[in-house]
Amino acid sequence: MFFLLVLSFTREVAAQGVSIDSSRYPRIVTFTAQQDHDNMMQQLGIKKLRPGPSGNESAPNHANYDESLANPCPKLPDILTTSDGRKVISAAMWWTQRQPQIAGDLEREVYGRLPKNIPKVTWTLKITDREFIGRTPAIVKQLVGHVDNSEYPLINVDINMMLVVPTNVKGPVPVLMMFGFPTFPSPAQPPPADMEKLNAAFKEMMIKNDPSVKAIFDRYPAYTPITRLPGPNFFAPPPAGDLPPTEQLLAAGWGYVTIEPNSIQADNGAGLTRGIIGLVNKGQPRKPDDWGSLRAWAWGAARGLDYLETDTLVNAKKVGIEGVSRYGKAALVTLAFESRFAVGLIGSSGKGGATLHRRVFGEAVESLTGSGEYHWMAGNYLKYGASEASFGSKTGCDLPVDSHELIALCAPRLTFISYGIPEKGDAKWLDQQGSYMATVAAGPVFKLLGAKDIGVSNDYQQEKMPPMLTDMLNGELAWRQHDGGHTDAPNFKYFIPWANKFLKYERIAAP
Ligand code: GCU
Repeated sequence: MFFLLVLSFTREVAAQGVSIDSSRYPRIVTFTAQQDHDNMMQQLGIKKLRPGPSGNESAPNHANYDESLANPCPKLPDILTTSDGRKVISAAMWWTQRQPQIAGDLEREVYGRLPKNIPKVTWTLKITDREFIGRTPAIVKQLVGHVDNSEYPLINVDINMMLVVPTNVKGPVPVLMMFGFPTFPSPAQPPPADMEKLNAAFKEMMIKNDPSVKAIFDRYPAYTPITRLPGPNFFAPPPAGDLPPTEQLLAAGWGYVTIEPNSIQADNGAGLTRGIIGLVNKGQPRKPDDWGSLRAWAWGAARGLDYLETDTLVNAKKVGIEGVSRYGKAALVTLAFESRFAVGLIGSSGKGGATLHRRVFGEAVESLTGSGEYHWMAGNYLKYGASEASFGSKTGCDLPVDSHELIALCAPRLTFISYGIPEKGDAKWLDQQGSYMATVAAGPVFKLLGAKDIGVSNDYQQEKMPPMLTDMLNGELAWRQHDGGHTDAPNFKYFIPWANKFLKYERIAAP
């Protein structure tokens, strides 16, 4: 607590120390999410949006869970037919014609485009720590990626990231980047003698500050205000059950990164005039095809990968991306659009992630176009929830693309689609079945590019989702529904060997 206070104090001084003449720059527009959402509706000529369904199954307006009503437009856009009707018959034709079409449509209508003028990111290593995480020795690096804001200094973007690399294996190691909150897993602590010194100095300082506390210390002479946390215990039996995912990675000779989405772009509509999106727009609201938070998070992950390419501990050709729920969507968008990522673990991503937009089951297009979630998407996406607009009305069925094509943009790279089960809390809202259909329908592109898909036919209208715990892990495209809840943790023990096999990685102990 004490150290925290000191830290936040210095930050404030530093912030005030830089004097910016704000009159030289356009002012930051401060909208509530509702105002920003209204502004986007106006730009698009939308008068009314259909309300999203309720997630509460006993509410009168609850989401549809009747499979017979879930496919109002069952035929998906043909993944291997160009927009002018030609069959895609070769890998070359995919890369030069169909892939750019799909990517372009997904950018324009769904996730937004990357602006051309995104400023440069400079990474700084803040702290290097040598830690024991469980039983694995590791180097931990706290990194900050500062985005050049000299063009618009009113907005500051510092991307927070933590890199953890095991040191008991021969490197460079593969790394899984995870959307989450970067913390030091197990900060190294001073040895007992240094701890004693710190405690003596701390006691003295406290007494100087308030002489009455001396009586307390005199009453408890053996008490030390700063205590040591328990360190690694190499003699304890291994814990029962699976290790946490991060420890499984380290034990398998992988490193991992946690990267903080909110340090790239806020997870709300009010934040769209700030963060990296706001910085590029100089504090002004988005245009309809500007990027949303998912694409911004994906961009930030790619900047994290830029750093990893400079770190000799890391094999930057074997870097993966992982996330669950909204970060599962972000992980899929990252893998699809940032081609240097070699592998993705896409956890419970639902609408806007792996499941089909066209499906009406659980979360709907209308949920994503409402003011609570629209910031994930491009403004243009709002059109598909419109009931009254200058262009009439549209639904998910009017989208020129769908999520099978987003998954296909990951091909032939390693793509693991993961879900849990509704009984344990991975709600039906996420539409596991629709995600399975999209995975099945993405298969032809993996095969065209010389990879394997999940190993069933590509008839997405006929194929049935297999029961939970069925491993469909023989291809670069993989599917597994574990028997846990809204998490991908139970799938890590399947993900790691699957990724190792295709990445041809084997842990070798350090000499
Ligand atoms: C809501 C939302 C989902 C999202 C989830 C989450 O349930 O509707 O789209 O994935 O929150 O990120 O926790």
